[in-house]
Amino acid sequence: MENLDALLNSVPSLVENADSPQDLESLENQLLGRRSQVAELQRTIGRLPAEERPRVGRAIQKARRTFGELIKTRRAVLEAESEAKTLAADRVDVTLPAMEYPEGYHHLITSTIEEVCDIFVGLGYRVVGGPEAESGTYNFDALNTPPTHPSRLESDTLYLDWGDPADEILLRTHTSPMQARYMEKHDPPVYVVVPGKVFRADTPDATHSPVFHQIEGLAVDENLTFSDLRGTLAYFAREFFGSQRRIRLLPNFFPFTEPSAEMHASCFSCEGGGECRVCGGVGWIELLGCGMVDPNVFEWVGYDPAKVSGFAFGMGVERIAQVRHGVSPLRHFFDNDLRVLSQFR
Ligand code: PHE
Repeated sequence: MENLDALLNSVPSLVENADSPQDLESLENQLLGRRSQVAELQRTIGRLPAEERPRVGRAIQKARRTFGELIKTRRAVLEAESEAKTLAADRVDVTLPAMEYPEGYHHLITSTIEEVCDIFVGLGYRVVGGPEAESGTYNFDALNTPPTHPSRLESDTLYLDWGDPADEILLRTHTSPMQARYMEKHDPPVYVVVPGKVFRADTPDATHSPVFHQIEGLAVDENLTFSDLRGTLAYFAREFFGSQRRIRLLPNFFPFTEPSAEMHASCFSCEGGGECRVCGGVGWIELLGCGMVDPNVFEWVGYDPAKVSGFAFGMGVERIAQVRHGVSPLRHFFDNDLRVLSQFR
């Protein structure tokens, strides 16, 4: 019995010192297995006097239970520790920042074209396109522009095929050739806008680029007057720029409109006050050319100038975007620097 007491005293620290499941298992064997001290004692019970047997038997059972519980508790601790270790080792860091998927958006030129076209669609106009490689016939002849006109020189126009004037092919210098192409194929009334790229033999600088964009407008009906042109452009300007930007019309000349005018907007940079690199100090920026369709153009497409009248305009897309958003050097539109473009998403 003294042996059992000594064993009971030493067991808690033995169990506590087992620090792996394997250690614990061999300790369990040692304490409770067939060759353990407890098993040994149990086997001697039979040799004890009969009256002592129950007491010793109970003590042995109690020792067995105590060992078993100590081991069970320790096993739970060891299992929890090893599970914690595995969890730490296999940990997935769900706090990593998510991958970014950049969302696309339209270039400022594209969104400006869409916005302008929407305004005219609201007025009943159709949106049509046309060829960028154009013939001299449509780019000039149909538009009442004589063969000797200075804009036809190689210093102004980019020619793809420059031979006989009858079959010269060039990069269109404006969207106006679509006036002739459209009227040739459609009877009046006509209400169309034509957005697209145009090309000129210009050296790039703050206000020039060999390629830029225009939106042509053409309205042909009975009894259209210059007042209709003015009202249409004033409506467009209010819709596109808001009421604070001022507008003016000045007389001008174009071979294919008579009378002709140009529309200006008050300068976004200086608002008309003194020295300014954007408008050159005049306080106004030219946005578009316009006028009443010349009777010669109607005749060329087979319309009767006695029966119909109409107006046309051609606006620079980069210009109106510049005035609207205050973007000054023209190259910002073509450099495709996302630090600039992303400001207009
Ligand atoms: N085509 C002219 C230009 O490029 C603009 C314009 C269009 C003028 C229509 C009058 C009528 O400058």
